[in-house]
Amino acid sequence: MRPVGPLQGFLNYQLIHASFAVRAPVWLPYSCMLLATQWRQTVKIKAAVLRESGRPRPYTESLPLGIEEVELDPPMTGEVLVQIKAVGLCHSDLVAITGERGKPLPIVIGHEAAGIVAEVGPEVDGFAPGDHVVPSFVANCGRCDMCREGRPALCQPASVANSSGTLMDGTTRLHHNGSRIHHHSGVAAFAEYAVISQSALVKIDRSVPFEHAALFGCAVITGVGAVINTADVSPGQSVAVVGLGGVGLSSLLAAKAAGAGKIIAVDVQDAKLELARDLGAHETFNATDPDCVARIRAATDGGVHIAVETAGAPRALESAYQMTRRGGTTVTAGLPGPEATITLQHFSLAGEERSLKGSYMGSCVPSRDIPRYIGLFQDGRLPVDRLMSRSISFDELNGAFDRLADVNTVREVLVL
Ligand SMILES: NC(=O)c1ccc[n+]([C@@H]2O[C@H](COP(=O)([O-])OP(=O)(O)OC[C@H]3O[C@@H](n4cnc5c(N)ncnc54)[C@H](O)[C@@H]3O)[C@@H](O)[C@H]2O)c1
Ligand SMILES: [Zn+2]
Ligand SMILES: [Zn+2]
Repeated sequence: MRPVGPLQGFLNYQLIHASFAVRAPVWLPYSCMLLATQWRQTVKIKAAVLRESGRPRPYTESLPLGIEEVELDPPMTGEVLVQIKAVGLCHSDLVAITGERGKPLPIVIGHEAAGIVAEVGPEVDGFAPGDHVVPSFVANCGRCDMCREGRPALCQPASVANSSGTLMDGTTRLHHNGSRIHHHSGVAAFAEYAVISQSALVKIDRSVPFEHAALFGCAVITGVGAVINTADVSPGQSVAVVGLGGVGLSSLLAAKAAGAGKIIAVDVQDAKLELARDLGAHETFNATDPDCVARIRAATDGGVHIAVETAGAPRALESAYQMTRRGGTTVTAGLPGPEATITLQHFSLAGEERSLKGSYMGSCVPSRDIPRYIGLFQDGRLPVDRLMSRSISFDELNGAFDRLADVNTVREVLVL
């Protein structure tokens, strides 16, 4: 991180914040600006910037992520500057690169992170430099209907901010040569530093290694929360997990920790099925087998109590629904492109009293659930460190996304 000179910082503020008349220090005299920049300074940082989606594979040649020096403004009211220490690569980053789920460009992607608080902005409570933190990929306003109902994953202003690639106030802190750069899910973690809303941050135990802590920011809260919060699995129930990436294998570990009776794991890759057996699956099935659903129904006395879809493929959700028993629940955490549709037997929903539930961010309250799940990890009941395939550097990011697209990996983690 290098500070930007006061004059350059002032010009950047004018360019980026020109439309926000109330925001100091834009309209302060230059002398005050010089004072202001002494404690709240724009800095230059290294970051992986996605400027164009849909580039062809292999990414080692088309290089969708450019490792660039960009400028990062200081934290504003309620925001925190975090030094990023580790970032996991999630399928939701990959679909930003492919363009399957479009993002405002240019953007710094990466949303499954852990780091150290470097500086706090005005009106920040409960965080201080040196704290170890994990950001959740949805901030929360605390005031909208969803937040008041205890469902912060669905916070309405945060959803607008995430779709727009901004922080909660509708602006960005990232820019380069006067052009704004967007933040992925309010985190923008493939970077040396990030400015993040305090409402997204959860303080964690300092003894947890950063590369393991990062996984709790997305794969773990999503996969574990889908089983514990959304499905509310009871001991002895049978659970199937369809799609065994970082999210699905977290669901599998959660089913085991919750005392599920029979755990079934399903994927299209035999290597994933082998890992699932190592992690506690009782039976595994390859989804490319045309009899896969029939065989699972036969092995579970007419279907599983709970099926969790974590593949992000319509076919996987259809299979998950078909392998769910009468009275059972199918949960979907997968996020395909917005045009994807599924075909289900309408009759069975009412006639068999079946439930189909969506699960976003594992229906979690991050400040409650991340410390709980970390506690389970520390007790050895949620060995999510087993999901980490390897650690990588900035220069290896594009190749790591090739491996994620080829399904040759679970969680590779950028370590800084
Ligand atoms: N709901 C949320 O809050 C949330 C959060 C994070 C990620 N996601 C989504 O969850 C999904 C999984 O993410 P990930 O990072 O674990 O992905 P991943 O790419 O690491 O894993 C996906 C797995 O699904 C398998 N798969 C693909 N098609 C299949 C099929 N038809 N049947 C069975 N298995 C199949 C793949 O082989 C792979 O092992 C993605 O869609 C991602 O965008 C959702
Ligand atoms: Zn994710
Ligand atoms: Zn809200």
